Amino acid sequence: MTKSKSILVTGGAGYIGSHTVVELYQAGYLPVIVDNLSRSNQSMLDGLHSILGVHVPFYQADCCDAQKLVEVIRRHDVACVMHFAAFKSVNESVANPLLYYRNNIDSLVAVLEAMRVTGVSDLVFSSSCTVYGQPDHIPVDELAPFKRAESPYGATKQMSERIIEDAIQLGLRAISLRYFNPIGAHPGSLIGELPIGVPNNLVPYVTQTAIGLREKLTIFGDDYNTPDGTCVRDFIHVCDVAEAHVKAMEYLQQQPSKHFLALNLGTGVGVSVKQLVETFIRVTGVNLNWVMGPRRDGDVEKVYANPELSASVLRWKSSRSLEQSLTDAWSWEKAIRKGI
Ligand code: UFG
Repeated sequence: MTKSKSILVTGGAGYIGSHTVVELYQAGYLPVIVDNLSRSNQSMLDGLHSILGVHVPFYQADCCDAQKLVEVIRRHDVACVMHFAAFKSVNESVANPLLYYRNNIDSLVAVLEAMRVTGVSDLVFSSSCTVYGQPDHIPVDELAPFKRAESPYGATKQMSERIIEDAIQLGLRAISLRYFNPIGAHPGSLIGELPIGVPNNLVPYVTQTAIGLREKLTIFGDDYNTPDGTCVRDFIHVCDVAEAHVKAMEYLQQQPSKHFLALNLGTGVGVSVKQLVETFIRVTGVNLNWVMGPRRDGDVEKVYANPELSASVLRWKSSRSLEQSLTDAWSWEKAIRKGI
């Protein structure tokens, strides 16, 4: 297939980046990956090769290196940048805040600088519902004010959105996608999430416990003001998230210059932690060892998306069920323990 346009995907060997690489390629674009593999590894590139049947261009480089980005953009005549590359651990950001500000902010500024120098106008940015903190109203919509970020990681996403909004004056068109809780993996189990060390996030912890790598899952708190007392989140299949990126890029192409928009990427359905655990047990048939424990510091009680704006702007809706997401997450866990 002749590919129409090259799209720079920073962090394309990461969790959401790699799934978006698949969607882009399958939609007729040529994804060009820049990733320093600091939080990923070659196996994700191998997985992409197996899925796509080709090696997409890959540069092992740091996205804080604007000059390198300029080189790649020029070599491939890049039409749009999707900027995923960032650190994303809440705990690590609390322990090492400067690492987070340095990496997440510097890389964004380098991306914007490279776009300015090369005249690339379109940016799709990876943001997070963390920008809302605990919103006053749920489902939360894009007009909800930012609360003080709970972590340096969250602060980098808030700051990044502000930086992009300011940079629009340079003639850019940008869209910031606020992910809720992406989970699951590509159905063939060739790419997925690769947590480093002990996972902080719920679903990798569940699957690692189910496979016997962790002794038990602790559910953090059952005294929240929610139907079953456990926190409520909006879990969305990573392939749904990836598809929305292609739609967002195509939407940007129709917009005038100096356009900025932030959009929620969620299902609109709140699911409690306990419900998720029960669903996992039901769909996989695995006897998961879990206990109820105390609250975790900094957790938001309940948050889920109002997905109406993204539905109308992108003509996109999440389509995969929680059951599908958990089945795919479990297949991926089994695949990585077997060395894929
Ligand atoms: N949880 C457990 N046990 C675990 C892990 C998580 O009970 O072992 C619970 C948490 O307390 C929380 C829910 O599962 O109630 C989801 O936790 P995650 O860590 O998977 O996700 P969060 O919603 O806390 O965090 C996510 C992203 C962050 C982002 C944040 C914004 O992972 O990057 O949303 O709200 F900052």
